[in-house]
Amino acid sequence: MSVSFGAGRLRGTMRVPGDKSISHRAFMLAALAEGTSVISGANEGADVRATRDAVAALGARVEPIAVGFSVTGSAWHDPHGPLDARNSGTTARLLMGACAGHGVHARFDGDESLRRRPMERIARPLRTLGAEIVTTSGRLPVSVRGVRSPDGREFELEVPSAQIKSAILLAMLAARGVAVVGGDQRSRDHTERMLRHFGRDVSFDGRTVVLRPGTMQARDLRVPGDLSAAAFFFVAAAITPGSDLLVRDVGVNPTRSGILDALELMGADLSIARRREVDGEPVADVRVRYRPLKAIEIGGDLVVRAIDEIPVLCVAAAHAQGTTTIRDAAELRVKESDRIATMAAVLRGCCIGAQETSDGLTIVGGAARIPDKTLTSRGDHRIAMAIAALAAPTGGHTVDDAACIAISFPGFAELWAAAQARDAGTTKVSGEAAG
Ligand code: S3P
Repeated sequence: MSVSFGAGRLRGTMRVPGDKSISHRAFMLAALAEGTSVISGANEGADVRATRDAVAALGARVEPIAVGFSVTGSAWHDPHGPLDARNSGTTARLLMGACAGHGVHARFDGDESLRRRPMERIARPLRTLGAEIVTTSGRLPVSVRGVRSPDGREFELEVPSAQIKSAILLAMLAARGVAVVGGDQRSRDHTERMLRHFGRDVSFDGRTVVLRPGTMQARDLRVPGDLSAAAFFFVAAAITPGSDLLVRDVGVNPTRSGILDALELMGADLSIARRREVDGEPVADVRVRYRPLKAIEIGGDLVVRAIDEIPVLCVAAAHAQGTTTIRDAAELRVKESDRIATMAAVLRGCCIGAQETSDGLTIVGGAARIPDKTLTSRGDHRIAMAIAALAAPTGGHTVDDAACIAISFPGFAELWAAAQARDAGTTKVSGEAAG
C-alpha cells in the first residue's frame, strides 16, 4: 500500500490511539491477575493484537466488550503452538519473561524484522532463575522452559531497556523473595506503575526497581493516548507555518516525554494543560503551534526517554536552524529497522544533509523546498509516519510501503488528512489496507 502525504498546516483538536506500551502491559498483567479486568482505550494496532492473541493462547480469557476488552486471568498453561509475536519486540520479550517465571514451556517466533533483533539480552538474565532459554544464534525463534516460584534475586541491566527490565519483573512476579533490578537510566516505567495499580508492592526511582512478593488482583484500567503516536503530529505542527494543534488525553509520563523536552529545547511553542493522573499514569492535553526551531544536541537519558521519537526528531532537526547532533542512540540500530541508517537514507533522499555515526546522526537543518519524493520506510511504522511529518511544511512525499503504519496507528493517514483538511490537505491513500 502506498500513501501520499501532502504539504499543509495541521489544525484542530484531536485524540490519538491508546498507548502501545501501556496496552501490552495491561493485557499481560490482567492475564496474570486474579479476576476480571476491563481495559479501555487500548491500542488496536497489530502489535497489541499479537499480545492479546498470545495471552489468550496462554490461558487468559480475552473478550471484546462495548468499552474495550474484558480480560480474565488464570494460571498460565503451555500454549498449543508457537507464540507468534509478529513485528512486536515488546510482545516477544515481555512474554518470554512472564513464561520463564511462571513454569510455562513455549516457543516464540516473529516476522522477518523481529527475527533479526537481539534476544540474548533477555535470555541471559532469565537463565539465572533456572529457566532454560534456547535462542537461534541469539535471535528468534526462541524456546523457553520456565520455572515456578523462582528465588529472590538481584539483576543489573546490561542496556537501559524497559523491555529487559519488564521481562525480568514479569518473570519475578511469582518469586518467593525480593527482586531488585538495577542499572536503569529512566527507561519507561509503565510496568512498575501498572504493577502498583494491580496491587503489587513495588518501589522505583529511575535507577533501581524493588519488587516484593505478593499477588495481583484484577483492576479496570484506562489506557491514555500514545505520546509516541502524537509525536508525529506535534513535530509536523511545530515545523509547518500556520499550524495550531491540540491533542487531548495523551500520556505525559516523564520517562516517555523526552520528545516534549527536546522540542522545547529547540524553541517549539508548546503548552501542556489539564495535567492529571489516570490509573497511575500522568495524562494531559498538549498544544503545539508553529514557531521556527533551532538545532540542539540530543544524548544521554534524553535519548532513553525519547527512544521511539528519534526518527521524528530527525525531521524536526531537518527544519531547524543549525546542525543537530544525536548521540548515545546505538539502540536505534536494533529497532524495527536500523533507524539510524533508515532515517539517514530518507533525509538524504530529500537532499537534506545527514551523516550517520556509530551511535547517532548529525543533521544539517534549514531545509527549504524539499522535492516531492517516493520514499521507503523499510517496513518500519515509525519511519513511515516520520515521512508524513517531513512532507507537511514543504513537500509531498509518497511512502511506498505504508501498510506497516497499522502496526501502531491504524487510521493514521485519515487522521492526518483530517488535521490538514481543516486547511487544504492533500493526503491520498491508495492500494489495499494491511490485513
Ligand atoms: C518499549 C521499550 C522500548 C521501545 C519499544 C517499546 C516497551 O524498547 O523502543 O518501542 O514497551 O517497553 P527498549 O526498552 O528495548 O529500548
